[in-house]
This record gives sequence, structure tokens and C-alpha cells, in this order.
Amino acid sequence: MASPSQTSPIRIGLIGCGEIAQVAHIPTINFLSTKFTLTYLCDINPKALAFCASRCSSASPPKTTQDAKELCASENVDAVLVCSSDAYHVVHGVYALKNGKHVFIEKPLALCQFDIQILKKVESTSKGRVFVGYMRRYASAFLDAVKELGGTEGVQYVKVRDIICPNSIFINQSGTFPQKFDGISEEEKQAFSEREDQVTHEALVVDMGLAITEKRKTMLRLLGGLGSHDLSAMRELLGMPRGVLGARLSPTMWTVLFDYPNFAVTYESGFNNIPLFDASIEIFTEDKVVTVKYDTPYVKGLPTTIVVREKAGDGTAYQERVLRTSYEDPYTKQMGEWWECIVNGKEPKTTIDDAALELDLFKMILRAAD
Ligand SMILES: NC(=O)c1ccc[n+]([C@@H]2O[C@H](COP(=O)([O-])OP(=O)(O)OC[C@H]3O[C@@H](n4cnc5c(N)ncnc54)[C@H](O)[C@@H]3O)[C@@H](O)[C@H]2O)c1
Repeated sequence: MASPSQTSPIRIGLIGCGEIAQVAHIPTINFLSTKFTLTYLCDINPKALAFCASRCSSASPPKTTQDAKELCASENVDAVLVCSSDAYHVVHGVYALKNGKHVFIEKPLALCQFDIQILKKVESTSKGRVFVGYMRRYASAFLDAVKELGGTEGVQYVKVRDIICPNSIFINQSGTFPQKFDGISEEEKQAFSEREDQVTHEALVVDMGLAITEKRKTMLRLLGGLGSHDLSAMRELLGMPRGVLGARLSPTMWTVLFDYPNFAVTYESGFNNIPLFDASIEIFTEDKVVTVKYDTPYVKGLPTTIVVREKAGDGTAYQERVLRTSYEDPYTKQMGEWWECIVNGKEPKTTIDDAALELDLFKMILRAAD
């Protein structure tokens, strides 16, 4: 592997040329051209591959392949960005690490402990490190909230909300004009469904001791998809809960009550058709309420903010503060952090061990809903 240096952009091999690659990762890397350049793309779908290659503004057109192993082994790749389907994250992460490459893996890192253990083992003997793409945790407003709160002392109650409309509503207005393509072979479809079944079995039956049902399968996918954004932010702010007091799970709307030693957290999430991205974390303490407000990440430049409502003056006065430290979007912030990890050896906060805690939360939630 060529040694990346601060003066030459890190050469990225990207696996998974789907929606998030087209809407976020490729445009972000194009903008960050002094830090990164796309040199290799992989997808099992040749049409998606060709389309994404045309979207890269690298100095030379990126090479393309349908074989993730080939990309990971390439001399033209310093680091690998995995944004393929959930079930393949660990498979692709392993290829990258075995070739001594740093690897960014989109959330959810994994859905079962078996995969987490494999990845940890391979990482322990690799020159590469895993960076998990929990981008909301790199948003300025989130970091401001962590600072503003300064720990969980004095927390009385927390509300985590993520109620959104179908992503397509935002994506169609994002100005990135992504495309979806048919064109995956029957053999690939079969391999994909077998891999999904294997992961589902490991997650529900082996890890959680639950029978596989359609509803649990869907909820596992939703918690790994939308849920992992909220739950990982909750963990960073508050640590792990000791359990779940109750949960009502429906694939359109779900509610969970987490039990922390001195307070409870309501986590409410789901989908409706109102074109609104209603995502926030609201932390109540005796003297102030801190709210992190997220807008859709698909429209670049929409700010995340924190709002602090608090007592002021002699204690009978009230004030509200709105803080918007930066217009820089979370994907850009996140890529800047990954660059620091690759070039300057900074330890990421979103590691394999960190992401493994997510699986404990999924287990608590799914078991409580029985
Ligand atoms: N951080 C975020 O904000 C965010 C947002 C959306 C999606 N995601 C995550 O990113 C990942 C991709 O999501 P998406 O919406 O782009 O999905 P998508 O289905 O649109 O794209 C996935 C792509 O991966 C390709 N792929 C699947 N298996 C492959 C394999 N074995 N080898 C090579 N290519 C393969 C598919 O052909 C497809 O083009 C998911 O894990 C999702 O959870 C993260």
C-alpha cells in the first residue's frame, strides 16, 4: 500500500455505488479534492458503477470492478469506503483490513456479534483501522451539545425523536439527481438473500434468543438503518442504559423507554408522509433544556443547531440561546475526521467496539417488545 501523505490526496476505493454514494459520498469527496480522490469504484451492478464513475471529478477516471476483493487489493487504493448493503459491510471491511487498508464503513457496522468478532480479529493484525460512519455524531451541533451538557449529572429526562417522511422526498430535492438501476444477476440476488438470512439468523436467534418473524426482521433492519443514527448519538451523550422498561414496535412508528440509573429516555421514531425531518435530542436538566436539532442530511448545507432554554439573571428570568457553530454538513465533518485518522493517526471515536454496543441496544429493544 502506498503511504498517504498530507500533500497527496488519499486515494479512495468506494464499494457500493447506490443512493448514499451518489447523494453524499461522491459529491463530498469531489469537494474535498485536496484531501481525497476516488481512484476505484466497485458495485455488483454494472450500470450503477458506470453512472458513479461519470460522477467522480478525480484527475483520472476511476477504475471500476464488480469484485470488491480486487478493489481492496489494488495498489491504486490507500483507503476503502464501504457503502454497500448492510449485510456486506463486514465482508468488505475484512477485505480492506486484510490488505492493510484503513476502512470507513457506513452504519450499521454489523447486525450480529459473529460479524463484529470477525472484524475485530482481522483489525487486530491489520495496519488499517475501522471508522464507522455515524455522521450525526460528527455534526458541530452535536459536539456542542456534548460540551454544553458535560456529562449526565443533573439530567432529569431525555427525549430522542426521529420521525421522518420517505427519504425520496428529500433526495429528489437535494440537487444531486441520483439514479437507481436494475441489472443485478439472479446469482447475485441469490447470494444477497442467503447472506441476509445468515445475518438475520445470527442476530435474532443466536444473539437475542428470539424466533425469526417478519416483524422482527423488519425492525432489525429499521433499527440498523434509521435507528442507529439516534441510538449511537444517545450512547455518546448519555452512555448505555441499564435496560428497556417498555417498547412498542411497529414498522411505521416505534417507541422505546430506556432506563438509566437516574432518568428515563423516550426514543420515538418512524415514518409518516409529512415532508419534514423531525429529528432531535432533547435533554432536560434542572436548570436548562438542551435540544440538538437535525435537518435532512441529504440537502447539503442545512444547519444542525442546538437550542438552550434556561433560567437567567437572578433565576426568575428566562432565556433561549440558538447556536449554529457551522454550516459544514456532517458528511464533510466526518470525512475530515477520517482524514485525520488516516494521515495523523488520530483514534476514531466510532470504532468497532463502539458500534458493537448498538447490538446490545437492539437486543434490549427487540426482547422487551415481546
Ligand atoms: N450515514 C447515512 O446518512 C446513510 C444514509 C443512507 C444509507 N446509509 C447506509 O449506506 C449503505 C448503503 O445505503 P444506500 O441507501 O446507498 O443503499 P443502495 O441499495 O442504494 O446502495 C447499495 C449499493 O451497494 C451495492 N452492493 C450490494 N452488495 C454489493 C456487493 N456484494 N458488492 C458490491 N456492491 C454491492 C448495490 O448494488 C447498491 O448499488 C447502507 O448500509 C445504509 O445503512 C447511510
